[in-house]
Amino acid sequence: MTTAIIGTGGIGSVIARQLASGGETLRLSSADSESARTLAAQIGRGAVAAAGNREALQGAGAVVLALRFTVLKSVIDEIADSLTGKLVVVPSNPLTIDAQGNLSRVLPEGQSSGEVLAGWLPPGVRLAMAFGTLSADLFESAGNRSPEPAVLFYATGDDRADKEVERLIRTAGFEPVKVGGLEQSGRLEVGGDLHDLVVGPAEARSLIGRA
Ligand SMILES: NC(=O)c1ccc[n+]([C@@H]2O[C@H](COP(=O)([O-])OP(=O)(O)OC[C@H]3O[C@@H](n4cnc5c(N)ncnc54)[C@H](OP(=O)(O)O)[C@@H]3O)[C@@H](O)[C@H]2O)c1
Repeated sequence: MTTAIIGTGGIGSVIARQLASGGETLRLSSADSESARTLAAQIGRGAVAAAGNREALQGAGAVVLALRFTVLKSVIDEIADSLTGKLVVVPSNPLTIDAQGNLSRVLPEGQSSGEVLAGWLPPGVRLAMAFGTLSADLFESAGNRSPEPAVLFYATGDDRADKEVERLIRTAGFEPVKVGGLEQSGRLEVGGDLHDLVVGPAEARSLIGRA
């Protein structure tokens, strides 16, 4: 199966490596195209750098938007007419960082990033918030853990997206556990109770019920 990854920085590059090692074919793009080309060359067979964001979507059934929250809307607007029928997976936290390195939330407290994003997408697109619950280092070290796989939590309001995002999460070397609909995406973000947790499936399911 082919997945596009738009954004090949801190988290996009790690998602790409894990998916590629699970056998996914990848089409990569980035802002200046150099980082996508470098990553495609590092991954080798099965990964190509596309000429741009729209080109990355050609032949892909899913796209991971591994972008800072503040650029998501402009990239979605750029690729909107190529998204119909695809699964869109977003790992972004609704944060911005100032020159001193201080993080602040770009959405009002209590507003779900998943629901905001759903409003930016054209109709007919299946959205799942996933792949953003672990820092890039933890994501890399916890993938393909044995004997018990580590969990990646996800949220989606679209039942058809469940199977597709679960396949991607397993391909990346994790066990998928659904937290609920898009209104639950705050639990996955920085500051959420399910963020940066490396847990197995049983513990993950008990944590979900505790909210
Ligand atoms: N890093 C982590 O550990 C981590 C973990 C979980 C979740 N997240 C979340 O994931 C999101 C991305 O974080 P990050 O650390 O990966 O950021 P990052 O290192 O700054 O990478 C952002 C990527 O987006 C690309 N980009 C920017 N504008 C673009 C455009 N118009 N078209 C195509 N690509 C564009 C950049 O391209 P260039 O390479 O050409 O500059 C870069 O590859 C954030 O919301 C963050 O909260 C990050």
